[in-house]
Amino acid sequence: MVVVVVSTFQFVPYRGPAERPARMGLPALALLLVAGVLLTQASPPARSFQLDYEKDCFRKDGAPFRYISGSIHYARVPRPAWRDRLLKMYMSGLSAVQVYIPWNYHEPLPGVYDFAGDRDVEAFLDLTAELGLLVILRPGPYICAEWEMGGLPAWLLWKPDIILRSSDPAYLAAVDSWLHVLLPKIKPRLYQYGGNIISVQVENEYGSYYACDYEYLQHLLGSFRALLGSEVLLFTTDSTQAEELRCGTLQGLYATIDFGPGSNITESFGAQRQVEPKGPLVNSEYYTGWLDYWGEVHASTSSAQVAQGLEDMLQMGANVNMYMFHGGTNFAYWSGADFKDQYKPVTTSYDYDAPLSEAGDPTEKLFAIRTVISKFQPLPVGPMPPATPKYSYGRVALKKYADLLSVLDVLCPSGAIQSQFPLTFEAIKQEYQGTLERDGLTTLRVTGRAGDTLDVLLENMGRISFGANISDFKGMLGNISLGSSLLSNWLIYPLAIDTAIKQGWPHAAQPQSSNGGTAGPAFYTGTFETPGIAWDTFVKFPGWSKGQLWINGFNLGRYWPSRGPQQTLFVPSSVLHVDRPNNITVLELEGASPAPFLLFLDKPLFNRTLNHSTMATK
Ligand SMILES: *[C@@H]1O[C@H](CO)[C@@H](O)[C@H](O)[C@H]1NC(C)=O
Ligand SMILES: *[C@@H]1O[C@H](CO)[C@@H](O)[C@H](O)[C@H]1NC(C)=O
Ligand SMILES: *[C@@H]1O[C@H](CO)[C@@H](O)[C@H](O)[C@H]1NC(C)=O
Ligand SMILES: *[C@@H]1O[C@H](CO)[C@@H](O)[C@H](O)[C@H]1NC(C)=O
Ligand SMILES: *[C@@H]1O[C@H](CO)[C@@H](O)[C@H](O)[C@H]1NC(C)=O
Ligand SMILES: *[C@@H]1O[C@H](CO)[C@@H](O)[C@H](O)[C@H]1NC(C)=O
Repeated sequence: MVVVVVSTFQFVPYRGPAERPARMGLPALALLLVAGVLLTQASPPARSFQLDYEKDCFRKDGAPFRYISGSIHYARVPRPAWRDRLLKMYMSGLSAVQVYIPWNYHEPLPGVYDFAGDRDVEAFLDLTAELGLLVILRPGPYICAEWEMGGLPAWLLWKPDIILRSSDPAYLAAVDSWLHVLLPKIKPRLYQYGGNIISVQVENEYGSYYACDYEYLQHLLGSFRALLGSEVLLFTTDSTQAEELRCGTLQGLYATIDFGPGSNITESFGAQRQVEPKGPLVNSEYYTGWLDYWGEVHASTSSAQVAQGLEDMLQMGANVNMYMFHGGTNFAYWSGADFKDQYKPVTTSYDYDAPLSEAGDPTEKLFAIRTVISKFQPLPVGPMPPATPKYSYGRVALKKYADLLSVLDVLCPSGAIQSQFPLTFEAIKQEYQGTLERDGLTTLRVTGRAGDTLDVLLENMGRISFGANISDFKGMLGNISLGSSLLSNWLIYPLAIDTAIKQGWPHAAQPQSSNGGTAGPAFYTGTFETPGIAWDTFVKFPGWSKGQLWINGFNLGRYWPSRGPQQTLFVPSSVLHVDRPNNITVLELEGASPAPFLLFLDKPLFNRTLNHSTMATK
């Protein structure tokens, strides 16, 4: 008999703080403005956001308008920190924020929707309005974002021959059901209807995808218009490559571009002018930094260069969105991956070397940017909120709870799936995340005796989020042979680890009599108390190899210090308790040191790793 264990997870709503009543700041103000405008001039319509092809600018309520914006992804920031991050963005002088909506974060299974707690996108949008920020919304359906499968739900692959991001009817049917749920929540928030959303992006960098299917873009345009109305400004974003602008743009969608501080600004906007000879210049993703891949150097971009490029663009009258202004964290299993010559998984940290750090602290880069902005528009009155306090909780000893294979009954309560041949995760109808080292070591010598059991633990390290290969199946994709004979009759255990841990396991369960060894995949537990106050902290993994960390049931993401460059995981204060012990659970996949412990520090650590030297380029 052969046993396959498939590491997976289920999506369970994270229980955030109690609902805060929606409070919109803008509508009241809007009424006053409307009255004023009507007295002095008959046209244009009150509350309008439009393109002016003659003056090459946007017009807001009829007046020329230019935005300076920054990206923030609510799915990468714990809900209790949303207000703090948005306030810091507002105080930096931004007029708008740019926001992605990840489809797979909200529709975990076909027709099952989750907009609660950390997923309450409407509460997030309420906060932007309350703080006086406009919103540039990017609802996908594909978003890239270095997010698991670019925001597309992996369940789309239950139909193995589906052609994603195309006019394949199976794909369009799923997209349309989703848009019919999402866009009605958005419509009343559009600027024209009294809200703060000034523009909505359709798809994302579609020109970079091989399909180049205009029927698909045309279909999306129809759905967005039908659900959002005829007035909202719809746009696309692509790189400055002519081929990408050819496939990514469509009549009826305003074409914008993206490029970073390393690019020639004149040439880049020249590329936009090839497809939009008139209208506002827009850089929808001006890269303030870059993402990190496991096993590569920690990305960094000079503040001076970012600030100079911003100033040059603003001098030209261009509209700029800075990607990212605050990157945040790929909690749980949400990190995506890229495929450039090989599979490249993205780290848990999405710090991005952005103006607001992963923990939400203003950096030197933020102040350099704010100084540039102050030359073009007035900064809000008042101080920048300070960095949130951090605390070194120090060393916390952990004890082995159980080998992973001894708790399959808890993690897979429905029992094993029997299959003659291995199945993909999608065929088992499980969501999960991440894969084995598919472009690393791929052969292994196994020794054993006749009749031995082969256990295979499969980990999904994130589905590819960019390029032609986003139909990224996970699991055991092929057959396995012993010599010349095909191994068959598999028992497959999809592991719902998150579900068990959110329900209090293993802390609330009976202690296990596990063997003392620390080799192989196993769970470890421990507790620590905070001295009266819960502050943000960063946890280091001395002597650990690779795995996942939960505190009080919150999945803080993957650690992999031997690969780097990320050496610590960010622990936001909102997951910590002050009045009772904090329960730590670690799933170590490879092996821990004999006296395992964690070290809580007051700052993050990154380093370059010695084995890999390639620098991220895009
Ligand atoms: C940018 O490109 C333009 C046009 O090709 C060129 O004239 C200019 O010198 C370039 N600027 C820089 C800083 O390289
Ligand atoms: C897609 O993946 C396959 C197999 O991993 C690889 O051979 C191919 O080059 C990839 N294609 C692109 C466009 O990256
Ligand atoms: C595994 O082998 C069986 C029997 O030859 C075959 O039907 C099946 O398609 C194979 N699966 C894969 C993924 O190659
Ligand atoms: C923490 O562990 C204790 C047992 O040590 C348990 O009673 C409690 O429910 C756990 N709390 C959480 C939030 O898991
Ligand atoms: C990375 O940094 C950590 C701590 O700062 C250090 O222990 C480790 O040896 C470093 N690893 C590499 C590969 O440089
Ligand atoms: C990676 O680098 C470390 C430190 O130099 C070394 O011990 C290890 O063998 C290297 N691993 C690989 C796969 O090259």
